[in-house]
Amino acid sequence: MSIDDLRTEAASLDEMHGATDLRARFLLPDGVVYLDGNSLGALPRAVPAAVSDAVEQQWGRDLITSWNVHGWWDAPARVGDALGRIVGAAPGQVVVGDSTSVRLHQVLHAAAALRPDRSVVLADPATFPTDLYVLDGAARQLGWTVEHVSPGDAAARLDGTSDVVAVVYSHVDYRTGVLWDLPAVTRAAHDAGALAIWDLCHSAGAVPVELDAHGVDLAVGCGYKYLNGGPGAPAFVYVATEHQAAFTNVIPGWHGHAEPFAMSGEYRPAAGVDRARIGTPPMLSLLALEAALTAFDGVEIASVRARSLSLTAFLRRCIDALAPGTSYASPDDDTLRGSQVAVRHPDAYGVVQALIARGVVGDFRTPDIVRLGVAAPYLTHADMLTAAVHLAEVLAGCEHLDPAFSRRSAVT
Ligand SMILES: Cc1ncc(COP(=O)(O)O)c(C=O)c1O
Repeated sequence: MSIDDLRTEAASLDEMHGATDLRARFLLPDGVVYLDGNSLGALPRAVPAAVSDAVEQQWGRDLITSWNVHGWWDAPARVGDALGRIVGAAPGQVVVGDSTSVRLHQVLHAAAALRPDRSVVLADPATFPTDLYVLDGAARQLGWTVEHVSPGDAAARLDGTSDVVAVVYSHVDYRTGVLWDLPAVTRAAHDAGALAIWDLCHSAGAVPVELDAHGVDLAVGCGYKYLNGGPGAPAFVYVATEHQAAFTNVIPGWHGHAEPFAMSGEYRPAAGVDRARIGTPPMLSLLALEAALTAFDGVEIASVRARSLSLTAFLRRCIDALAPGTSYASPDDDTLRGSQVAVRHPDAYGVVQALIARGVVGDFRTPDIVRLGVAAPYLTHADMLTAAVHLAEVLAGCEHLDPAFSRRSAVT
């Protein structure tokens, strides 16, 4: 396929998907193809004004009264409900605050209390390392054994057993972009009497999750990737309604108390998902996330997904045409691919740096992955072609071998 054919195809695909082009809702620099929304989402247009209002009017003028008059106290649950719509959770099951790592620690301890007679937890050895670290830490505290089982093998491991507390899996693999079968793994866990705990960092805002519909028990995720909440945006935790009465909070801070301003010396958990709250949330970041989520107003995640699949499939077709022989870690099959194209290359770090120098921003994941994240709301098929053209030129000109591109920064 010639580049002219690809240009024509990009234009017609962009026209066909015009209704889901939400780029106008984001502020992106000219001349950049941003393929790192799976690490730090782009800046939604609604955020600067919201943050400036939060700083100047709410904090600056209304000071402490803002906890009441600007609804700061209720924000974790209010923003949780808005986020819940995106991950298929009815109101009253999601709260926002703290980091994914903290939220994971919290749901693991809650799971132990929900399944006190069991002691094995299944985890994916290839998952994002913080999940393994936090799980190992919790396992030491709780006397659990962590078994490394890929999500694809979970059903076989669970079949006919009664020792498993929970499966703890990422919905989308951060490195390869593989989309795991959340409904099937959740079902297999339940058939074995185990809980299903999902990390939605790489699926919330990109892929339909449908937590309620699939009966997920507990879930966590971050606010700064496809949800575009900004650097360090607070994370979220989902506690299915059926588990809330028995949900114990390993960090029973005062924001999760039934009557926080009674200032009682004894902890009494709030009713509902509020009991998953811990301490004072980072209010500026929380309000930035709230504004960021409005970028999804009036948009169904299914249509974001349809756009994402078209973009990632087209990106791969463009790379195949312009840089034949490229190998991939991400699946070709639409049903198995999250929202990224992961290219394998022995000099992946240099390739990523050379691309960034050309205005195509992806990232490197060890050992050999050029990770091209595709946040569908603000990317076009024309962007996909531009990225592929630059990738082909970098490889053809061996630009990735330039020593300047091998110097590793702290963040890759
Ligand atoms: C799957 C997954 N879990 C967790 C995290 C990060 O956790 P935290 O928000 O605590 O930094 C990431 C970050 O990229 C991730 O990809």
